[in-house]
Amino acid sequence: MATPIIIDCDPGHDDAIAILLALAHPEQLEIRGITTVGGNQILDKITDNALKVLSFVNADIPVAKGAAAPLLGKLVTGEVAHGESGMDGPLLPPSKFKPVEQGAVEFMLELIRASEEKITLVPTAPLTNIALLLTAYPEVKDKIEKISLMGGGLAYGNVTTTAEFNIYVDPEAARIVFESGIPIVMSGLDVTDKAAIFEEEILELKQRGPVSVMVGELLDFYSIYGKKMGYVGSALHDPCAIMWLLHPELFESEQLYVTVETEGKLTRGMTVADRRKKPDHPANTEVLLGVDREAFMKLLFDALERLDREQLPVQGD
Ligand code: BDR
Ligand code: CA
Repeated sequence: MATPIIIDCDPGHDDAIAILLALAHPEQLEIRGITTVGGNQILDKITDNALKVLSFVNADIPVAKGAAAPLLGKLVTGEVAHGESGMDGPLLPPSKFKPVEQGAVEFMLELIRASEEKITLVPTAPLTNIALLLTAYPEVKDKIEKISLMGGGLAYGNVTTTAEFNIYVDPEAARIVFESGIPIVMSGLDVTDKAAIFEEEILELKQRGPVSVMVGELLDFYSIYGKKMGYVGSALHDPCAIMWLLHPELFESEQLYVTVETEGKLTRGMTVADRRKKPDHPANTEVLLGVDREAFMKLLFDALERLDREQLPVQGD
């Protein structure tokens, strides 16, 4: 039976690829819904991007809009990396889908309550929606199987020296999620930077079918910022959170207690792991630290090829 999931995202180039990777595996992952949250760009833009990606592959999955801003303070966007639209690069046709009326929290609540099986949450964005859900309706924790999230990094950050973007944008929310007691699988920068795609691979994508070409174009834009920052390859951050659900055997990991620093001048938004032999708390997180990059890319290419072949007629027909 396919694992029921909800993807909470801010597309975002790599969010879009994560959604496509999940869509290509309906026998393993059943996407019950997609929720959006202000992050890489403002809420309206990234929601529109999510709908455009779904429309491009004709996947009529309900999308609910969530929080426009973090629990405290103002939204910091990722425009510098993701551009003015939040997903610059390919020119996608307007979406034929619209968001549902409900807000993300009520939408998740309803899906979780109605489900016979426990649901797995896959957040690839700031954790505001998930923290709001767990705070307002703590009883749903029993019906959440696990949270496979992209965020954090034990060794270093990307917005600051210590904080990764998704956690940096809403550290208070991230802390609520990490301390919720729900099992967490953390795809942080330790592993996602190792899941990097290189220029010749992007070129190859652009010689394939329509979905692969679209992803190639996304990556062309996305790699511009990476190169400016000194990276050779483009890290496929968000797809890691989906790939782990599909193929956990590709990853190396450690079970650790992880929480989030919310106060430090240099460390606000840092994910902090207790690596002592006798930690104060039992492990709450499976921290992914390594990945078989070649196998990851082969599986991603195959998934996109599957969508290339199976893509149904698009917009307006
Ligand atoms: C994370 O931040 C966003 O820019 C990406 O979509 C990813 O979720 C990487 O730090
Ligand atoms: Ca993201």
